[in-house]
Amino acid sequence: MENTIYFYSGTGNSLWIARTIARGLGDTRLVSIADVGETGTTGGSGVVGLVFPVYIWGLPRRIIRFAQGLKRAEGTYVFAAAVNGGQVSGTLVQLRRLLKREGTLLSAGFDIPMPSNYIPWGGPGPEKKRRERFEAASRKIDDIVSCVKKRERRPVEKGPLWARAVFTPFYRLTLSKVPTMDRQFWVDDKCNGCGVCSRVCPSDNIGLDTGRPIWKHRCEQCLSCLQWCPKEAVQYGKKTPGYERYHHPEVHLKDVLKPHPIEEFGSAEMERP
Ligand SMILES: Cc1cc2nc3c(=O)[nH]c(=O)nc-3n(C[C@H](O)[C@H](O)[C@H](O)COP(=O)(O)O)c2cc1C
Ligand code: SF4
Ligand code: SF4
Repeated sequence: MENTIYFYSGTGNSLWIARTIARGLGDTRLVSIADVGETGTTGGSGVVGLVFPVYIWGLPRRIIRFAQGLKRAEGTYVFAAAVNGGQVSGTLVQLRRLLKREGTLLSAGFDIPMPSNYIPWGGPGPEKKRRERFEAASRKIDDIVSCVKKRERRPVEKGPLWARAVFTPFYRLTLSKVPTMDRQFWVDDKCNGCGVCSRVCPSDNIGLDTGRPIWKHRCEQCLSCLQWCPKEAVQYGKKTPGYERYHHPEVHLKDVLKPHPIEEFGSAEMERP
């Protein structure tokens, strides 16, 4: 395959974006960052894409480690898509700088708002807003595919200056606390011990003790365990028992169970009329 897209996704938005870009580009394989850890490479591919969610106004810790370990090859075109709930802030600037330190040029970085999966702060919003975001994302992907096919260089997209000034310091303060934020998870009486939460966790952070999940404090805060529990038994803090769960409507549980098979997309589909 000519192109490789590495993706990371808790609730399927980034997986859906990665798949849709891959389908548009053609000749592309999709590889899960949760499965390959820090062993990504730009070697052997004409194009490498990174598609991942924004967490707390910046890069997920997992993406930082992946980008630091990304083996570089001359001549590869590298782009990124930061999938978010409407506030990309300085995430792509952070990625561009990080990759530059490692000797890799980020040729383009795209901000893609989708319904938010962060239900402790309100979640994905009403159906109409979700639909509008999916439609806007599809239009944006057409632009991304065209940009990548032409190997265009574009400035990375970013949020307004005020947002970066306020949120980037907050992100830096929070980053080291993320692994132990799982102390706020708990499980209610609906839990039947099925183990799905453990099987979707990208960090092997959930064990089962007498049929009940226990969190091991190396969390990424992806919210997969909470969002994919078939019984909606995983809770976070006080509010979530009453909140509707979210995952992308075209991504299903089988798509997020580990390990994720490498998906291959052949020749590009005809452009939409
Ligand atoms: C811990 C956490 C923090 C988040 N922080 C932000 C944020 O700072 N800005 C934003 O726009 N969305 C934020 N979100 C929302 C996600 O970026 C967004 O829903 C994304 O589409 C999820 O992608 P996924 O479905 O591939 O996991 C956050 C989500 C989580 C779980
Ligand atoms: S996925 Fe839900 S029901 Fe299954 S073990 Fe985990 S918490 Fe319990
Ligand atoms: S414990 Fe839950 S939120 Fe934390 S990394 Fe695992 S699935 Fe994601």
